[in-house]
Amino acid sequence: MTVSPSASEPASLAATSEPLLKLRGISKHFGAVQALYQVDLDLPVGQVTALCGDNGAGKSCLTKTIAGIYQPDEGEIFWEGGQVHIRSPKDAAALGIETVYQDLALADNLDIVQNMFLGRERKSGVFLDEDDMEKAAAETLAGLRVTTVRSIRQPVATLSGGQRQAVAVAKAVMWNSKLVLLDEPTAALGVAQTAMVLELIRRLKDHGLAVMVISHNLNDVFEVADRIAVLRLGRMVAQDKISEFDRERVVDFMTSGGSSRELAATSSAQKAN
Ligand SMILES: Nc1ncnc2c1ncn2[C@@H]1O[C@H](COP(=O)(O)OP(=O)(O)OP(=O)(O)O)[C@@H](O)[C@H]1O
Ligand SMILES: [Mg+2]
Repeated sequence: MTVSPSASEPASLAATSEPLLKLRGISKHFGAVQALYQVDLDLPVGQVTALCGDNGAGKSCLTKTIAGIYQPDEGEIFWEGGQVHIRSPKDAAALGIETVYQDLALADNLDIVQNMFLGRERKSGVFLDEDDMEKAAAETLAGLRVTTVRSIRQPVATLSGGQRQAVAVAKAVMWNSKLVLLDEPTAALGVAQTAMVLELIRRLKDHGLAVMVISHNLNDVFEVADRIAVLRLGRMVAQDKISEFDRERVVDFMTSGGSSRELAATSSAQKAN
């Protein structure tokens, strides 16, 4: 399996303007906490959707629902136009959904190649096909223009935060994913590293993937996103293309759900969809 996601499929989906992933009426509660309430979300191909919201708004919960970690109490999920049930991370991976979590799921003691193939090692007879895996890892990183890593045989523990994120993203791309979910990918990063990860996110969308990125940093959001979705207390209070927002308006939605005039406009737009 190699890097490049097929360009033809996203293009045909784009032509029909059907989002790659569509959530409708997703609710999820934990005991007395209603983490998500009737959430609708569209994730189109070739676009970066930023999921914004205050602490506890439900962003990670929504991400984990898409990633198959949580099962929604109600609601429907559509993938490439057809209804699906994502019952496990394995189901998500089979569809082409990869998730990069803030607390990176990389193994520190393993090198870059080992991390990228963890659990999916290639074999040649009874032996691991190291050459083949090394080549695929190198090609994927090169394809994403990740050039700051000195050696792909470097243990991940020796990488900078930005480089670790790059490896996590490259791993997602290598497995032919169609949708990449990034939960706060730049939260722990410095300025240069953040710029590198944002550039990487742009490359993913240029490859024809759909990307959803969670970020508290509105500078990052406005730099990289094509669309913004705002959760507040488990409800989707706004969702539109980035040109419809400025920072102030996003903060307004995050903190108070927007003015009533704006809410009315949003809900009528949603009904029209
Ligand atoms: N496994 C769980 N058990 C109980 N409650 C949970 C669980 N996961 C999330 N919650 C609750 O659901 C709500 C949404 O949490 P979530 O982690 O999705 O927020 P978030 O938007 O990702 O916040 P942050 O910006 O702080 O990461 C919170 O009230 C949280 O306490
Ligand atoms: Mg979170």
